Amino acid sequence: MPLVLIEGPGIDPMRIDAAEGGALADLCDDVSAPIPFSCRSANCGTCRIVILEGEGELEEPDDEELDVLDVFGNAPPKFRLACSAKMRAGTGTLRLRPVTDDE
Ligand code: FES
Repeated sequence: MPLVLIEGPGIDPMRIDAAEGGALADLCDDVSAPIPFSCRSANCGTCRIVILEGEGELEEPDDEELDVLDVFGNAPPKFRLACSAKMRAGTGTLRLRPVTDDE
């Protein structure tokens, strides 16, 4: 089953079982994951995340996500928006953290 691991400075490592894949935002909401959200519609960039491992577990970003990442000088596969990214169904592991202020 897909697994999401969330870590980062000041974050107790968190594990989310993502049985069917699906929207990363929903998976985060289900466990109150420490990923900040604001607009939830690929506009603000608040939910930018760094993919540490398993970028292939996510579906390809759409144009709106790419445009917001570009505003911040970020690009996939290293950076994604948690409000837009969707997990593929499967058995892999996605490891991520929120961006830091200097990213
Ligand atoms: S919450 Fe605004 S871009 Fe994701």
